[in-house]
Amino acid sequence: MKLMFVGPPGAGKGTQATRVAQKYDIPHISSGDMLRAQMRKGSELGIAAKKYIDEGHLVPDDVIVAMIGKRIKEADAQKGFLLDGFPRTAAQAEALDKITKLDMVINVFVPDNKLVHRMTGRRVCDSCSATYHVSMLSDLKTCPKCGGNLYLRDDDAEEIVIERLKVYKESTQPLIQYYTDKGILRDVVGSGGIDTITQTILSVLEGQG
Ligand code: AP5
Repeated sequence: MKLMFVGPPGAGKGTQATRVAQKYDIPHISSGDMLRAQMRKGSELGIAAKKYIDEGHLVPDDVIVAMIGKRIKEADAQKGFLLDGFPRTAAQAEALDKITKLDMVINVFVPDNKLVHRMTGRRVCDSCSATYHVSMLSDLKTCPKCGGNLYLRDDDAEEIVIERLKVYKESTQPLIQYYTDKGILRDVVGSGGIDTITQTILSVLEGQG
């Protein structure tokens, strides 16, 4: 199964993608996680990407298409994959169409007023990339899953979050129509309990939602 999650920053794409990919035993391919891993390594790609990410802007299409194009050719992605955060522009969607064909796109919809709260309270593990909200954590510094260090993403500062939401509306939201026109987009409300949302997504994927 070849899947993609689209939705505004903070909609819960990463949270849900981790669970759904595990259920179907397919790799969860997150462009944001891949870029942050490169930033932590201090690679040429990571250094170049950081200046865009820290300002809440998109990394250039050619860089992202090359990175994801290579990733989905790896052996573990041949049985399917779940893309999270890619494609994010019309040019990226068109480039993906030339490489492969998606089976379904899940549009995770959450009203704007919840998104800022979610992102400014997010903590991410620097070791396993697990994501939490401070309201779920008793210890704000240590990952409950692997013991790694939790950190606040630089791009989760409120002013950057507001810029990211603007960029989403301008560059990524038009993809909802693009995939609706292809007949493969399904909407899922991303507010409410995390388990309930997972169940809704699984029902949609199994044709019962
Ligand atoms: P990326 O990492 O992809 O960020 P994003 O799309 O902005 O999405 P987020 O990771 O912010 O949110 P999410 O929807 O995954 O939510 P999460 O599950 O974490 O990209 C970062 C940057 O990299 C971009 O700005 C860009 O610069 C660059 N980039 C990446 N891909 C690119 C591309 N294709 N092209 C160009 N540039 C690219 O949840 C958020 C919070 O809410 C967490 O705290 C979580 O615990 C909480 N939460 C989740 N679900 C719920 C719920 N149901 N109720 C309450 N809280 C919840």
